[in-house]
Amino acid sequence: MKPLSVRNVDMVYELPKGGSVHALSDISFELDAGRMLTLLGPSGCGKTTLLNIIAGFLGATSGEVYLGDDQITGPSRERGMVFQQGALFEWLSVAKNISFGPRMAGQKPAQYRPEVTRLLDVVGLSGFGDKQIYELSGGMQQRVALARCLANDPEMMLMDEPLGALDALTREKMQGLILNLWNDTGKSIIMVTHSVEEALLLGDTVFVMAPRPGRIEKVYELPFAKRALTEDTRELKSSPEFQEIKEEILAFIWEMEEEIMGREAS
Ligand SMILES: Nc1ncnc2c1ncn2[C@@H]1O[C@H](COP(=O)(O)OP(=O)(O)OP(=O)(O)O)[C@@H](O)[C@H]1O
Ligand SMILES: [Mg+2]
Repeated sequence: MKPLSVRNVDMVYELPKGGSVHALSDISFELDAGRMLTLLGPSGCGKTTLLNIIAGFLGATSGEVYLGDDQITGPSRERGMVFQQGALFEWLSVAKNISFGPRMAGQKPAQYRPEVTRLLDVVGLSGFGDKQIYELSGGMQQRVALARCLANDPEMMLMDEPLGALDALTREKMQGLILNLWNDTGKSIIMVTHSVEEALLLGDTVFVMAPRPGRIEKVYELPFAKRALTEDTRELKSSPEFQEIKEEILAFIWEMEEEIMGREAS
């Protein structure tokens, strides 16, 4: 397993009609293999931009990103992405969605079929392999997206608001699934979320980002993700130590958003 190293990353988008947006400013951090990092921050602070740079979908304006000894210069099966919703292949069955990566890599059915069956079981969709995507609920679709990502056996899973479109109850169940996946596979996960509660529950490291230019404003190392593997998550979320950090971050993000709105209004 490989650590991630982000070194002095800057991202400036040049706008077609002139002008530019400074989306990320001098982002540097190291993330050990097997960590779960959650990214929080107001809209426009560069969360998706940072994820896309780590995925290799975007090239930074300056700075470097390494996974282990390898500099990231483009997309790779090593770094799998799970999007918010609607990123599945609608014209393929559930099983064909999951086996997409292995098939593209030239694997034969005898190789990938047992793995698809195993992954369906891992994400709680045993027996759903022949279903079409439109036959599934939103939560089930996100389970397929997780399985499709896992089928490539990536070093690192990158998730951009993967649970953002789900109802509260489904979301809670999916949080449990992600925690278990993280624990069982030992993979590194970086997840963007708008939910402070979700970021605190799932992140053993949490970055709170600030906008204009996008930067990491606060870093928390938290025990809740590990504790949630054995403790009741509802009780954990209502514990005083969880609530205290949640209130602190909410107040901080609230202030940032007030400031942004104030600036935009003036
Ligand atoms: N392709 C692009 N061209 C120009 N500007 C862009 C582009 N993509 C993003 N931006 C700008 O860069 C900044 C960061 O955008 P980004 O999408 O990374 O934010 P985010 O934190 O993911 O926001 P959200 O929470 O709304 O998803 C924003 O000001 C956005 O308008
Ligand atoms: Mg985004």
